[in-house]
Amino acid sequence: MKTQFALIEKLCKQIKEQISFTPKIGVILGSGLGRFADRLTDTVTVDYASLEGFPTSTVKGHSGCFVFGNLGGTPLVIMKGRVHYYEGYDMQKVTLPIRLMAKLGVETLCLTCAAGGIGDNLNVGSLMLIRDHISSFVPSPLRGENDERIGTRFPDMSEVYDKRLREIAGQAAKKLGITLDEGVYLQTRGPQYETPAEVLMYRALGADAVGMSTACEAITARHAGMAVMGISLITNKATGLSSLHLAHEEVTAAASHAAPRFEGLLQEILLNLNQDH
Ligand code: HPA
Repeated sequence: MKTQFALIEKLCKQIKEQISFTPKIGVILGSGLGRFADRLTDTVTVDYASLEGFPTSTVKGHSGCFVFGNLGGTPLVIMKGRVHYYEGYDMQKVTLPIRLMAKLGVETLCLTCAAGGIGDNLNVGSLMLIRDHISSFVPSPLRGENDERIGTRFPDMSEVYDKRLREIAGQAAKKLGITLDEGVYLQTRGPQYETPAEVLMYRALGADAVGMSTACEAITARHAGMAVMGISLITNKATGLSSLHLAHEEVTAAASHAAPRFEGLLQEILLNLNQDH
């Protein structure tokens, strides 16, 4: 952990040499949603591959770069592509980018992801605002020696997804006429999709959507003191809840199809966050 702090400082310095502003807002774009980054102006792109010690994605549809830029007067940083636990990295490595963003000055983090819908109200193309999560099926990203310079040993998780941010998201959705139900996101280890029996178990536990990325990022962000918002794009009904079999290509295709609506909502939210600052 102590060595990770040194790495984060080094990467932060390397990036700051390339940008001329402090991004207060960070956004992670999930599968099929990367095009949102095209909406930024005055951009500086930093490929993950140029950052020594930074995890790089091996998954199709996750291109792998930071885009720093401006959206309607708001300086922000977008992560186009993320790494997942199932790629073989340990949780500390998976969440290193979150800590790097915190070090760069990001105070508010918007997480987006593809997920399978478990709740009856969540169908292909639905958007779910994450109200809470279940991370009990994945290792904690905070496991191991704690570095107090990053955050406290036993961080509170009673409101991971900031209520004020959820209100802003809800208002933005209302303005655009988009249905945005709140729900509980459950993270699995992946990479295999769930079995029907697992989905029934997750439903019984209170999950509305299931995915392979977001909860560990939200935990790390809260540990580092950031305010967190999360939106899941439902790309499929979870296994067993429809007659279809799951394939990654269909998940990314569904994400691309819903992307314009999702991007419109994200833009509206980010512009409102700025006014709120
Ligand atoms: N399960 C897990 N992760 C996912 C799914 C799913 O059904 N859809 C998109 N990401």
